[in-house]
Amino acid sequence: MEVFFHNSLALMFTLLTLPCYSMYDSDLSRKPHAWTKLILTHHWPVTVCEMDGIKCDNPPNYWTLHGVWPDKSQMCNNSWPFDYSEIQDIAVEMNKLWPDVIHPNRTQLWKHEWQKHGTCAATLESLNSQHKYFSKGLELYKQVDLNSALQKSGIVPSTKYYQMKDITCAIRNIYGVVPKIQCLPPQQVEDAQTLGQIEFCFDKAFQRTDCTHEFPSSFEELQSRNGLTVCDQNLNTRYPPLETL
Ligand SMILES: *[C@@H]1O[C@H](CO)[C@@H](O)[C@H](O)[C@H]1NC(C)=O
Ligand SMILES: *[C@@H]1O[C@H](CO)[C@@H](O)[C@H](O)[C@H]1NC(C)=O
Repeated sequence: MEVFFHNSLALMFTLLTLPCYSMYDSDLSRKPHAWTKLILTHHWPVTVCEMDGIKCDNPPNYWTLHGVWPDKSQMCNNSWPFDYSEIQDIAVEMNKLWPDVIHPNRTQLWKHEWQKHGTCAATLESLNSQHKYFSKGLELYKQVDLNSALQKSGIVPSTKYYQMKDITCAIRNIYGVVPKIQCLPPQQVEDAQTLGQIEFCFDKAFQRTDCTHEFPSSFEELQSRNGLTVCDQNLNTRYPPLETL
């Protein structure tokens, strides 16, 4: 009894003296209501295929949708499984614009995106079903129309290097917001990073907003996948054409 008493006192003391931001921070990542922005993430299939090191079967030659991610929460509802039948009517468009680049014509990516991100986005009434969530993703993707925007700015896949500022400026000029651009860092002998993901942020009314990084460290790490990191503004940048695969 006495031991128990001392332990609980010690525990109380620890809790009271913990810096409050660390508790706050980890708390946020679990609260579905805590998110404020949606991140519309595009990825460049050639880079996705290079990263996975497996041979992609006929990958798309355009930026595809990777996901629609609430900024501060993940895995919000384990009792809401992915159900393909709810999005069957949009499957053709999903396969084209939001494909699983690594496993074409399969539903693995959608299942993952729903469980990890969709269940959190669903706190918003306009996203509270799988059909609404995936349809909204397609709608935002088409509205942003990244592929033609890049093309119009002369940012096209090439064997020559780009400077990050040219890509960043082009996007900022077109959209008027700060995107988040992620790259695969230089691998071994390379002296260049590789363009991998371009993200646009939206508020809860689906208005484009700057992608700023209020909670940089832990949450960003949770979201970065397979070694993509925010591009280094000072490194040469590859935007590899499909033929380099
Ligand atoms: C989780 O999903 C189930 C199935 O849609 C739903 O009935 C339940 O209310 C959800 N729970 C929360 C906390 O949103
Ligand atoms: C996926 O399926 C569609 C229609 O069945 C087909 O046209 C397309 O070639 C398939 N894509 C891949 C990469 O297998």
